[in-house]
Amino acid sequence: MEQRRILVTGGCGFIGSNFIRYMLLKHPRYRIVNLDKLTYAGNLENLSDLETHPNYRFVKGDIADRALVAGLMAEEKFHWVVNFAAESHVDRSIEDPAPFLHTNVLGTQVLLEGARGTGVELFLQVSTDEVYGSLPPPGRFTEESPLRPSSPYAASKAAADLMVAAYWRTYGLPVVITRSSNNYGPYQFPEKLIPLMISNALEDKELPLYGDGLYVRDWIYVEDHCRALDLILHRGKPGETYNIGAENERTNLEVVEIILRLLGKPRSLIRFVQDRPGHDRRYAIDPSKLREELGWHPETDFETGLNRTIKWYVENENWWRRVKSGEYLAYYERMYGDRLRKAEQG
Ligand code: NAD
Ligand code: TYD
Repeated sequence: MEQRRILVTGGCGFIGSNFIRYMLLKHPRYRIVNLDKLTYAGNLENLSDLETHPNYRFVKGDIADRALVAGLMAEEKFHWVVNFAAESHVDRSIEDPAPFLHTNVLGTQVLLEGARGTGVELFLQVSTDEVYGSLPPPGRFTEESPLRPSSPYAASKAAADLMVAAYWRTYGLPVVITRSSNNYGPYQFPEKLIPLMISNALEDKELPLYGDGLYVRDWIYVEDHCRALDLILHRGKPGETYNIGAENERTNLEVVEIILRLLGKPRSLIRFVQDRPGHDRRYAIDPSKLREELGWHPETDFETGLNRTIKWYVENENWWRRVKSGEYLAYYERMYGDRLRKAEQG
């Protein structure tokens, strides 16, 4: 394909940084502009290997900044916009939903407005299976499942999805929405389950499992997600929604037990702590549409992906030790201090 100019937002976060690295390796002629506000979750270190890449440009800024977004769109004349930028952590959204509305809802609308009338050929909204809410087995979410978000995070992502769909129906802006299940892999911020448990286990610290630990998530290796997004950018149909999942449902307890086994750490590190309010019991994605229409399938099984992820955290201890300082320490105490003390008291 001819050269593409792509605006990637939130590229200094977990999935965004993996996506930019994946795209520049696979399509070295494509130009990528990364617009990121560098919140607590955004880390320039995640892309330090690409700083001097001739087709990469970093812009520090907020996706909700109308003037900045309009200026960038006019200057760069993007073919594609891929919107990863978000407040992404459910527990933080329970503490304070306001930043989730600012970035996930208003920010998405500002980007859509910026893209309108500037020749953007595809606006890809990176969404989540959490917009569907919780699901008892054996059902799985299809693209037709109703939106029933539980957390303020999920509600803000669902609101953004509806605004994206409105820009398609009202203004004919070519959009696609992708809804992926839980991702894991290198560069994930250690507030999320898998990197929190790996880094705590490496430090011989307690592993706090919410409630009975039998909540189910459907895990996908981040590179498989990035490959799906690449495929959808090239071959996806405007106006469509695509679920992305690897058919890999696990209880949280099972995930933690595998991590402990792979690291050779004792099960006695596990603590069952007070549950998250409004905690969705189960997510499960049906990825048939992506498989049947675009021929996508996951390439990394869970054991292989977890092994790779653990190896990355073992080899990049400096990365997570730096991340787990400063603001993180206050966050950890707010989130887990009382929970862990209560668990110790039995
Ligand atoms: P992350 O928290 O690791 O990264 C978010 C990035 O967005 C950070 O670099 C941050 O600085 C940036 N950002 C935040 N607010 C911004 C703003 N106002 N303007 C510009 N940049 C801003 O998140 P992630 O886990 O990489 O998730 C990326 C996207 O994928 C999100 O939209 C999320 O909803 C979605 N998603 C994530 C998962 C998952 O398992 N992590 C699953 C499905 C969908
Ligand atoms: P998380 O990584 O926050 O993703 P999400 O809530 O968006 O799916 O959590 C994944 C699962 O792990 C979820 O069921 C909550 C649970 N969990 C814990 O049990 N303990 C923890 O410390 C964290 C962060 C999550």
